[in-house]
Amino acid sequence: MKDCVIVLFGGTGNLAYKKLYPALYKLYERNLMPNKFVILSLGRRNIELVEFKNIVKLKIKQFSNGYNEKVLNGFVDFIKYQILNFDKINDYVILKGRIDDCVCSEKMPQNRIFYLATAPGYFEIITNNLELSGILDIKKDAYKRIVIEKPFGKDLAEAKSINKTLRKVFSENEIYRTDHYLGKAMIQNIMVLRFSNALFEPLWNSECIDNVQITVSETIGVEERGGYYETSGAFRDMIQSHLIQILALFAMDVPNSLETEDIRNEKVKVIKAMKFFTNKDIVDNLVLGQYEGNSDVKSYVDESKVNPNSLTETFVAIGIDINNKRWKGTKFYLRTGKRLKKKIAEIVVEFKNTTVNKFYYDLLKNKDNAVNSANLLRIKIQPEEGISLSFNVKKPSTDNIIVQKEMDYCQSCDIDMKSPEAYEKLIIDAISGDQSLYARWDEVEAAWSFVDKISKTCLDRSRLLKKYKSSTWGPKEAELMMKKNDLKWWSK
Ligand code: BG6
Repeated sequence: MKDCVIVLFGGTGNLAYKKLYPALYKLYERNLMPNKFVILSLGRRNIELVEFKNIVKLKIKQFSNGYNEKVLNGFVDFIKYQILNFDKINDYVILKGRIDDCVCSEKMPQNRIFYLATAPGYFEIITNNLELSGILDIKKDAYKRIVIEKPFGKDLAEAKSINKTLRKVFSENEIYRTDHYLGKAMIQNIMVLRFSNALFEPLWNSECIDNVQITVSETIGVEERGGYYETSGAFRDMIQSHLIQILALFAMDVPNSLETEDIRNEKVKVIKAMKFFTNKDIVDNLVLGQYEGNSDVKSYVDESKVNPNSLTETFVAIGIDINNKRWKGTKFYLRTGKRLKKKIAEIVVEFKNTTVNKFYYDLLKNKDNAVNSANLLRIKIQPEEGISLSFNVKKPSTDNIIVQKEMDYCQSCDIDMKSPEAYEKLIIDAISGDQSLYARWDEVEAAWSFVDKISKTCLDRSRLLKKYKSSTWGPKEAELMMKKNDLKWWSK
């Protein structure tokens, strides 16, 4: 792994404190960082370096899963701080000098990673100023990379504009579009599960799978992010990125190889094959909700920086068809929301109740206590990580009574299988130049096209948006949407 300077825009922000410094620290603790590196943190406040290092140490103690005081002190020695206003070109000229000094004094190559842990509204101004200040002029044998956080804009037009600006100065293989769900351990397990087990891949199609349910639910509200959330809502915040990415990885065809571009080529085909919504689909296959408070928590409309008459959705349930040979006839149900009953992220695959299964059931003399259930495969992403498979067995000492049981593998219960945080994996990949877990532009573009089309079709939001009580599974319409098709949500 090549030595590098990591320039962290938004170095005093929430994301940096809660996720990025703890992840960088863990990589350092596990000896995974390059021999020489510098983290040059940028912020708007004038803070002494000593004070800043102390803040970072505190945050790492608070948000990291364990730490060692001595290692932590060693880690913060790699941090430097500079005050920078995103729109002041002079600050970038000073930044260039700082980077050059680091490279010189540490005898490092000119490799640099620009990590934009900022709102997307700043991506373009930062990129333009990086170019104007000459920071991007480096030797041929060095690399420059830019890491940007989701959301990539608030709609397709904005995403295109950001991408155009980025592409003026960075090539596609220098742009790392983060979707932190792709860094989660069980998401990376999807391909292994499919392709390294004879059991699953032959069944991964609409002949054998009735429906796939992807649930990412949260118990928290919008917290201090009301301003941002008003411009995004759950659809843009979660469906456009995390849930569509999970769907693509789950549903893609077998890639030619495990090389980054081959995987991305297959993912993008799935996203492009998602059937656009008609007005009828809006009625049949989409539920939008907004949470109401109770004695403990506020309603969404009472949260800070939220319009009291807001029609922004904090819950989405959507049924998507994929127009390709493998999936014609299998529905993909995605569900996400805030202030729901439980924090959970999982994929549940409901296999078809096959003819054999039904035939056997029909033969039973006593059906009263017998279940006639399809097999379910659960890929548990968080908080528990693992995989379970339900199947039908005969209850002992009965006359063929069938009951459903589970084979359960709990990865997070296994001490030897402890997963790193998503950001650890993503950062190390950015440093070593592996883009497999980052989204390519055409994937992002296709996901935005799908989402934008729905936003344009759902014009009558006041009619569509259903209120739901906090700590429930969202509006009852989400249950009804499934019930109409004789289905139910399996994640509870
Ligand atoms: C972020 C969203 O991308 O993901 C947040 O912007 C959401 O609204 C978060 O809370 C959920 O991530 P995780 O890893 O806690 O499930």
